Amino acid sequence: MSFTPYDRPVRAAFIGLGRIYDLNMRAYLDNPDVEVVALVDPSEERRAQRQADWPGARTFASAADLAASGLEVDAVEALLPIPLHIEGVVELLGYGWHVNLQKPMCNDLTGAQQMLDAAEANGRLLRVMENYLFYEPLRKLKETVESGALGDVSGYHMKMVGSGRGGWDVPASSYEWQVQQMRSGRGILVFDDGWHKLATALWLFGPIREVRAWVGRTEVGPGFEIDAPTTIVWEHHNGIRGVWDITLAIDMYLRSDYYTNDERWEVTGRRGYARVNRCTGRGIQQPSLEVYADGEMRAYHALDDDWASSFRDSGRHWLRWLRTGEGSLLWSAEEAVGVLRFALAVYASSSAGGTGVDPALI
Ligand SMILES: NC(=O)c1ccc[n+]([C@@H]2O[C@H](COP(=O)([O-])OP(=O)(O)OC[C@H]3O[C@@H](n4cnc5c(N)ncnc54)[C@H](O)[C@@H]3O)[C@@H](O)[C@H]2O)c1
Repeated sequence: MSFTPYDRPVRAAFIGLGRIYDLNMRAYLDNPDVEVVALVDPSEERRAQRQADWPGARTFASAADLAASGLEVDAVEALLPIPLHIEGVVELLGYGWHVNLQKPMCNDLTGAQQMLDAAEANGRLLRVMENYLFYEPLRKLKETVESGALGDVSGYHMKMVGSGRGGWDVPASSYEWQVQQMRSGRGILVFDDGWHKLATALWLFGPIREVRAWVGRTEVGPGFEIDAPTTIVWEHHNGIRGVWDITLAIDMYLRSDYYTNDERWEVTGRRGYARVNRCTGRGIQQPSLEVYADGEMRAYHALDDDWASSFRDSGRHWLRWLRTGEGSLLWSAEEAVGVLRFALAVYASSSAGGTGVDPALI
């Protein structure tokens, strides 16, 4: 599509005012690229709560009410429960609004195609935001790898531990749609949070030619299963192999301002290694990035390693993009389909007993 950047602040609306709004809205605060004109959520309580952030914005119980109001909107931040993504995005694009959607995009390729078709039919942009690509320690990790400081990359691994204690409160209503997702075979660790890890793999080392996976499950309450232990390995087209292990530590307390997720990324090269020690939670209390080469360890003490800053910067990137049209969207809808294919290859491999699956053939 041809896109003409806005020569004035973008008029934006938030669609969905739940848990993640708290982090997403940071991109919009004190940002001359945008004017928040509307807030949409069926919950009256949420609308009243969020109105305090944007006293000048109008509130609506549905996107249809906003569209019918005649209020001019250019772009929306779609913060909807995952099961509503397809229907919601098609509707929002249909009103002529550009959409910045939360991950995971949707559960299958048919749904993704519906979204792509709606964007094309309406001549509007669909972005699937990926805040991890804006987390400063990960950006510095990528820069370190690309600088050659580690020598040629031999391989890398990611680790994720879902812990059951600590962090912020998640509303019970969020768990309702998460259970629905789990019952559809799209678990909270591999697919929902995992989307980010798969995205970082593609962003760091490019397309993948083969995935092998063993997706497990653990019942943590009646009818409530978590998709761990899980192990996933893959090989990029450039020959670099990655491995990601997901474990559950249900009784472990993890200090976190957000979700209780203990994460690491470690890239090994011929001369050394670089490791991001944490992201969402405050697990390992070392500097967030450490780089070892030639007998010396370099530790980065002053990176912005607050996970919330990655939301701020991802959102600012989107709004700046709407003002300039320059650079990558990180991610465009088409790139997000690449992440979805990776996830689908994980499931296909695991169901087939761990055999190798090419995501492009899904
Ligand atoms: N990037 C990340 O790291 C990250 C973290 C958490 C959640 N998310 C994503 O953000 C999205 C929302 O998650 P959440 O945790 O905020 O969920 P939530 O359940 O806390 O909030 C969802 C909100 O949407 C509202 N809603 C429901 N139907 C609606 C409709 N038709 N129109 C407008 N609003 C509607 C609900 O009333 C609720 O306030 C999901 O896609 C989730 O995967 C991303």
